[in-house]
Amino acid sequence: MKPQSTLLFYTLSGVLFIISFVGMLIYGYKTFYIETENVQSTDYAYHFALIAEESNNDYWRLIEEGAMRAANENDIYIEYVAPEKADNDSMLRLLDRMISAKVDGIIIQGVEGDRFVNLVHKGIERGISIITTDTDVKSSERKVYVGTNNFYAGELAGKAILENTTGEQYVGIVTGRYDAINQQERIAGFKKKVKESGRIHIVEVKESNITEIGASQAAYSLLKQHPNITVLFGTSALDGIGMVDGLDEIAPNNDIYIISFDVLPETLDLITQDKIDATIAQYPEEMGYRSVNVLIELQQKDLLEKQQYTETEIIEKEDLLRRKNGDGK
Ligand code: BGC
Repeated sequence: MKPQSTLLFYTLSGVLFIISFVGMLIYGYKTFYIETENVQSTDYAYHFALIAEESNNDYWRLIEEGAMRAANENDIYIEYVAPEKADNDSMLRLLDRMISAKVDGIIIQGVEGDRFVNLVHKGIERGISIITTDTDVKSSERKVYVGTNNFYAGELAGKAILENTTGEQYVGIVTGRYDAINQQERIAGFKKKVKESGRIHIVEVKESNITEIGASQAAYSLLKQHPNITVLFGTSALDGIGMVDGLDEIAPNNDIYIISFDVLPETLDLITQDKIDATIAQYPEEMGYRSVNVLIELQQKDLLEKQQYTETEIIEKEDLLRRKNGDGK
C-alpha cells in the first residue's frame, strides 16, 4: 500500500472505531440499564399500584375504573397489575415487586397465609402505605381495608333464601376459589344465617376458579351428583351467569332458586329474565375510588379508620324495575 492509502485506511478505521464505540456506549447503556430508583414520575404527586386478583376480570376492571377516576382528580399515577389467571403465588410476587419499586402506596386484594402478612410487614417497614380492598386480612399490618363486609354479605344471601323459600331446601354452592378469604367469609356468614332455621342444608361446595365456564361446569356437576338440589348460590361475580348456563344444560325446566353475587350487567339481565332470583350487590367502582383517596390521606397521616365498608345489599327483580321507573336508587 502507498503511504497515502495507508494513512487514509488508518484514519477511516479510527473514525469507524470511534463511531461504534460511542454507539455501543449509548445503546448498551439503554439496553442494560435497570431502573433501581423509585420509578415515580415527577409529573405526578404520587405513584400507587393496584394489584388485582385477575387482570381481565370485569369486576376488577370496575375497581380499576374507580381508582382511575380518583387518580385523575388528584394527579396520581396508578399502575394496574394482576396475574392473567387468578393465582395467589403470582399476586404475592407482584406485591414484592411493587415494594422493591418503592411505589408510594399499594392497594391489593388480601391473600390468605403468612407470606402475605410478611410481605405487608416488609412494605410497611419501608414506609410504603399498603391497604387491602375487596378482601381483608385483619392479621396483617395493612393500614386500612376498603370493601364489602364479606361475612355480612354472606348473611344477606342467607336472608334472601330464608325469605323467599319455604320448607326444606338443599343448597349447592359455587364459590370463586376455596383459598380466597372473601369467599370463605361469605360462606361462613351464609351458614350462620341459615343455621337457626334448621331447614336449609348445604349439600356441597364446588369451585369455579372465578370463571363463567368454571361456574357452569360446577353447577352442572352439582346437579348431576345431587338431583335433590333446590337452591344454587354463587359467591363470586361470574358464578351466577355460569350457573344459569350449567342449569340450562342439565335441567332446563327445573325451578331452582338461584342467588348470585355482584351486579355485572349480564347478571342484571338474567334477573330481569327471571333466570336469577336475587343477587348480592357490591360496589367495586366505589372501592377503587375510595381506596385511592385513603392512600392519599395516608401520605399525610398514619392513622385512619381501619375497616371502611362499602355498601352491600340484596337486589331482586322489583328493585331493578323500581330503578328503571325512576323511583328508588
Ligand atoms: C369478588 C372478587 C372476585 C370476583 C370474581 C367478586 O364477587 O368480590 O374477589 O375477584 O368476584 O369475579
